[in-house]
Amino acid sequence: MFQPVEIGSLRLKNRIVVSPMDMYSATDGVPGDFHLVHLGSKALGGAGLVMTEMVCVSETGRITPGCTGLYTDEQRESWSQITDFVHSRSTAAVGLQLGHSGRKGSTRAMWEGIDEPLPSGAWEPVGPSALAYSPRSAVPREISREEMTRIREEFVSAAQRGAEAGFDLLELHCAHGYLLSSFLSPLSNQRDDEYGGSLENRLRYPLEIFDAVKEAWPSDRPLTVRLSADDWVQGGNTVDDAVEIARAFIAHGAQAIDVSSGQVDSRERPRYGRSYQTPFADRIRNEVARHAGVSVIAVGAISSYDDVNSIILAGRADLCALGRGHLYDPQWTLHAAAEQEYTGAGADWPLPFRAGRRKPPRHAPRPSGPGFSCMPSRRPPPIRRMFGGSPLWPIGEHREAMSTANGAESRWIPPHF
Ligand SMILES: Cc1cc2nc3c(=O)[nH]c(=O)nc-3n(C[C@H](O)[C@H](O)[C@H](O)COP(=O)(O)O)c2cc1C
Repeated sequence: MFQPVEIGSLRLKNRIVVSPMDMYSATDGVPGDFHLVHLGSKALGGAGLVMTEMVCVSETGRITPGCTGLYTDEQRESWSQITDFVHSRSTAAVGLQLGHSGRKGSTRAMWEGIDEPLPSGAWEPVGPSALAYSPRSAVPREISREEMTRIREEFVSAAQRGAEAGFDLLELHCAHGYLLSSFLSPLSNQRDDEYGGSLENRLRYPLEIFDAVKEAWPSDRPLTVRLSADDWVQGGNTVDDAVEIARAFIAHGAQAIDVSSGQVDSRERPRYGRSYQTPFADRIRNEVARHAGVSVIAVGAISSYDDVNSIILAGRADLCALGRGHLYDPQWTLHAAAEQEYTGAGADWPLPFRAGRRKPPRHAPRPSGPGFSCMPSRRPPPIRRMFGGSPLWPIGEHREAMSTANGAESRWIPPHF
């Protein structure tokens, strides 16, 4: 997991990706302090690539009123502050996921009822066909050719703003039932024009958007795609279709395929389990991507560094994205390095955090004496006796920690500071 990898011309220091995660915490589409801290802490936490949430190309392309966007200059400026922070304070790359909510738009924040229509302030969602995502969802308006052109231009403007904002990579969100994904699936796309019917037709609009974005996006920064590899509903797309969809995007210039699944139709019956989407990544990597020099990202219930190492060593994917694992532990990668006693360039502790780069001993004796008034008065044991020889927290580093953090080499600091 600590081997560098290249996506197009972008070199990443390791194989860990912070998966895109919508925080539903923006006002008027503008990312704020919360997003800076959220993405900034993930960048400081050691992942090679930190992805934004799905950033929406228009106000009505948002999933919820709390989603971020890139359809105004104010939003671009705010994103710039985040990319500046990541570039100046970490060695992570930062990627933009761009999307349009389609028929799953105009809904509530995840914690208020995911995919539930807004009780007030709703807008009319659009989709390839007038088919609702779930029995409770609004029926979308079938999108016209004119609207498709307008939305394509919105993708282009958002990509241009994303480039100006300094993102290193752009991922087109063609998964999870949002607009482009809903064109790909025969469950949501029942159009009888050249954009519906065969897989070739269903691919037409997502590929049109991809091509237009590619024109607008700097050629020296990678353009990638996230797919739902299986709709988990009979009659929907399967991994066989996903292999062909990946092949088409690669032929148009996609430099990585990020392989997710589902969330396309509420009748889905996914077979959840540990690393459950990795077989899809494996097929796409080994049937189409590897030969084309295109990277594949596996995602979904990958949680341990053993899982990551096994997936990569077995050639099932080139990178692994972790979502919830990073919410649990923003320093997931650095902690995985400490656990594996890895100290190379693939795990880059920010200088101010270096004092903490070893896993603290779990059962260190509690100190006592002057300065520890709740303890019985007793002189603390010398550090060398407490920690001497411990491979987890060598004495020299503990001293370094003390002198760096406190400017007083001689002061005794308890281990869990
Ligand atoms: C809070 C949350 C928000 C998410 N938002 C997005 C999103 O904006 N775009 C996306 O492609 N996937 C999104 N996902 C899916 C994750 O990127 C990831 O694919 C999924 O959580 C499975 O990975 P995990 O098991 O490591 O969490 C989200 C997941 C979570 C938990």
